[in-house]
Amino acid sequence: MAKVVVTGKIPSGALARLRAEHDVLAWEESTPISREELLKRVVGADAIVSLLTEKVDDELLVAAGDQLRSVSNVAVGYNNIDVPACKARSVLVTNTPGVLTEATADIALSLILMVTRRLAEGERVIRASQPWQWGMFYMLGSSIQGRQLGIVGMGQIGVAVARRARAFGMTIAYTKRTPLDAATHKELDAKHVELDELLATSDVVSLHCPYSPETHHFINAAQLAKMKSSAYLINTARGPVVDEAALADALKHNGIAGAGLDVFEKEPIVHEGLLGLDNAVLIPHLGSATVETRAAMADLAATNALAILGGKAAPNLVG
Ligand code: GLV
Repeated sequence: MAKVVVTGKIPSGALARLRAEHDVLAWEESTPISREELLKRVVGADAIVSLLTEKVDDELLVAAGDQLRSVSNVAVGYNNIDVPACKARSVLVTNTPGVLTEATADIALSLILMVTRRLAEGERVIRASQPWQWGMFYMLGSSIQGRQLGIVGMGQIGVAVARRARAFGMTIAYTKRTPLDAATHKELDAKHVELDELLATSDVVSLHCPYSPETHHFINAAQLAKMKSSAYLINTARGPVVDEAALADALKHNGIAGAGLDVFEKEPIVHEGLLGLDNAVLIPHLGSATVETRAAMADLAATNALAILGGKAAPNLVG
């Protein structure tokens, strides 16, 4: 039996699968584990099943010891894991692509509708018992039909967002290192463009690139200045892809029309410049937050960890 450390609460089905084969030490509180406790628990671990709230760095790998074989993240994004440090110690890293594509795309589309139709702002009026009345010019938003959605990073989630947006009558432009395969390109009737063109011509820009040192503050003051003043920015990727201070400034001074954010630079802290802005829709990292999706993510992470511990090929190796 191997020692498997699970760094946070995960759905019971996945936990039971791990427990059926191995000696599992799982953090079962709903608040994140403290760093100190985590460093103690990982000592002697053969496998770690990690949540995106835990940093897996060299310090943690050293604390675990040389027998550590794998780190299985319960997330598609794995910027919380120092992959080169894992590689240097022959620790395999896995993530959970695919199973959260539809849920995350639903949230991106929700944010597009929320911000363009001012839904959160309207709800705040009612909840604050403020006076309101239907009016020809009351709380008008922008229609998205016939408008261009610019997708930065056209991976599985980007494509799923594009499909939804097409159903709402939007046209699609995207950036991607290599163009989409011909069939998907045709299905979406999409334009493959450079980032500058995407920013300058899109009515909604939605971010779907991974976070890495190369994409830190990828959208900064200079990039925001390239966007139309009537355009909206949507971020369901990772917070630090956007310079939040620059975004707050652009929103405050009508550099762009609005933003819908599911992720933040210093989660769970949100830049205070965003908090008072009606044209910012702010939701607490809910991209994959459905019962079904979280169960599937944990299950896939368990499958990856069990495969590696069993000497088999893991389906979702990264790096
Ligand atoms: C969620 O943010 C994920 O990367 O899975």
